[in-house]
Amino acid sequence: MSESIARGLEGVNVTATKLCRIDGIKGELIYSGYDIFDLAQNSTFEEVAFLLWNLRLPSAAELASLKATLLSERNLSDLNSRVLTEIVGQIRPMRALEMAVITAGALDKNSSDLTNSQLKQTAARLTAIMPTVLARFHRLRQGLEPVPPRDDLGHSANFLWMLNGREPNALEQRVFDVAMILHAEHEMNASTFSALVTASTLSDMYSAIASAIGTLKGPLHGGANEAVYKLVEAIGSEQNIASHVEALLARGERVMGIGHRVYKTTDPRAIILEKLGHELAETSPDRKYFDLSLKLRDYLARKLEGKPLYPNVDFFSASVYKMLGIPSDLYTPIFAMSRITGWTAHLLEQYADNRLVRPNALYEGASNRPYTPITSR
Ligand SMILES: CC(C)(COP(=O)(O)OP(=O)(O)OC[C@H]1O[C@@H](n2cnc3c(N)ncnc32)[C@H](O)[C@@H]1OP(=O)(O)O)[C@@H](O)C(=O)NCCC(=O)NCCS
Repeated sequence: MSESIARGLEGVNVTATKLCRIDGIKGELIYSGYDIFDLAQNSTFEEVAFLLWNLRLPSAAELASLKATLLSERNLSDLNSRVLTEIVGQIRPMRALEMAVITAGALDKNSSDLTNSQLKQTAARLTAIMPTVLARFHRLRQGLEPVPPRDDLGHSANFLWMLNGREPNALEQRVFDVAMILHAEHEMNASTFSALVTASTLSDMYSAIASAIGTLKGPLHGGANEAVYKLVEAIGSEQNIASHVEALLARGERVMGIGHRVYKTTDPRAIILEKLGHELAETSPDRKYFDLSLKLRDYLARKLEGKPLYPNVDFFSASVYKMLGIPSDLYTPIFAMSRITGWTAHLLEQYADNRLVRPNALYEGASNRPYTPITSR
């Protein structure tokens, strides 16, 4: 056995997948053979969910059936609603998501049924409840009445409706749906891996997803989109960009939304979000965040010239979400609300071909110590 350590498992293939391929040099992101630009242009979030769970695009009848399932699973259980009401002032929204997933698992008598059809049902259920949990959480914490889901709205549009109590216009619906498509899947990463580790013990999908949410919550993973918003807000106006960035880099800090472990060119998702940002900005009262992001991007391109540091998905998602009226502490939970499809798709692969994840650790501690009774220590 090798005595080397793969710190952070960097460069280690932990499994094979048919779900997603990233080419970080060319800036390509492919979901099960389909280019992300094609999916963003032509698909819907529900179609992408089907693609990830079935490795092919749905027929019209299959899509209608999935949409019906998502509609039927949107409402929260009484227990989940009561838990949220009870605790809303004491927790942040990522914790609310974790709790909702655990509560849903507690109520599911079939939670330990790991057959493919049951797992797909659970995947759809979790995908369906997440928007309701987040919107309800946000309404309750503002002292507002929760807005019930609307059956005539698609998955993404219904979330904006429940969150803001206002029906999003056609552009807002499309932009948010595309943002959901862009965040749905990203090959292997910390949260997906933690879901796989939990599932590899043959623990259930609810626990595996709770693990993933807990892992995504950390600022080194899913928290960057909120951090970009805070950065842009702190910069405030164009004339402060240079001094703010200089000071930040001098402190050894990083510019949020820039750089990526895999992409050594602009993240394709950032290209798509920038284009959508331009469309939203035409009518948005909050366009100043987007405009400032563009100026910041241009400044950084000059400042970091020669380094492989380019905007990643979080760079423009922050100002796009702002223009959609979404509060910044929901940016990471929205990431989870989309990525639930990718996580559960990877879990379908894992359960179908499971091997317990059980790595080793190199022991570096003391040896041959004589045991001292507590009275003599
Ligand atoms: C995403 C990230 C963690 C990837 O980092 P990584 O692959 O481990 O890259 P490294 O930490 O090896 O950095 C390589 C060099 O680029 C610099 N760098 C990387 N990201 C940077 C950033 N956002 N701002 C400024 N400098 C950065 C590092 O300081 C390092 O410089 P050096 O070689 O002079 O020491 C990193 O780019 C980052 O922290 N970005 C900001 C957070 C973010 O947007 N995360 C969301 C990712 S989708």
